[in-house]
Amino acid sequence: MRAQINPSILSADFARLADEAQAVAGADWLHVDVMDNHFVPNLTLGVPVVESLRKATDTPLDCHLMIEDPDRWAPQYVEAGAGSVTFHVEAAAAPVRLAREIRAKGARASMALKPATPIEPYEDLLPELDMLLVMTVEPGFGGQAFLDIMLPKIRRTRELIAKHGLELWLQVDGGVSESTIERCAEAGADVFVAGSAVYGADDPAAAVRALREKAES
Ligand code: DX5
Ligand code: ZN
Repeated sequence: MRAQINPSILSADFARLADEAQAVAGADWLHVDVMDNHFVPNLTLGVPVVESLRKATDTPLDCHLMIEDPDRWAPQYVEAGAGSVTFHVEAAAAPVRLAREIRAKGARASMALKPATPIEPYEDLLPELDMLLVMTVEPGFGGQAFLDIMLPKIRRTRELIAKHGLELWLQVDGGVSESTIERCAEAGADVFVAGSAVYGADDPAAAVRALREKAES
């Protein structure tokens, strides 16, 4: 299975975002963490920065919205140029309607689960989605330790995807590094977000290659 590696610009230098995006040109997607200081206790960036980033790189943008009221805001991220938009199910009022709206506007629709949110209640929603994100840390900050206790949820999600014969991608985000990525891949993840493991490295492009190699081994 080909692994997709999505560097998270949360760990990049926000004053040099265009250069930081170029530094990982071999990445599959650029992971853009949008935080509103309400859904999570941290504040990052919004629609105007996504619009500018879109012009600064050819790498498609994977926007992870850690915000309240994604029903209202997510469509604007598609218009800003995101190729994939992830909303948190804990914050969405109408996840099916929202996923359909994201798709109708031309982006991939993705839904995220915080560590304490189980996948089972959402089994019937899976056909509405292009990607499911299993958080492997509590969302809000980069550089946190990977939660091994999430591995069974990754495994169960992969089984549900197979059971329904879906093409859904399974993303993991949080604490993904050269020492944890193999466990995630073995459990069934195929899209890997990595912030500090990429931008904390001396050579971010080499870090992307090393992560991909481990995930595919
Ligand atoms: C955390 C964000 C992640 C973060 C991951 O809430 O959603 O995308 O950047 O950072 P690392 O890879 O350092 O755990
Ligand atoms: Zn993220």
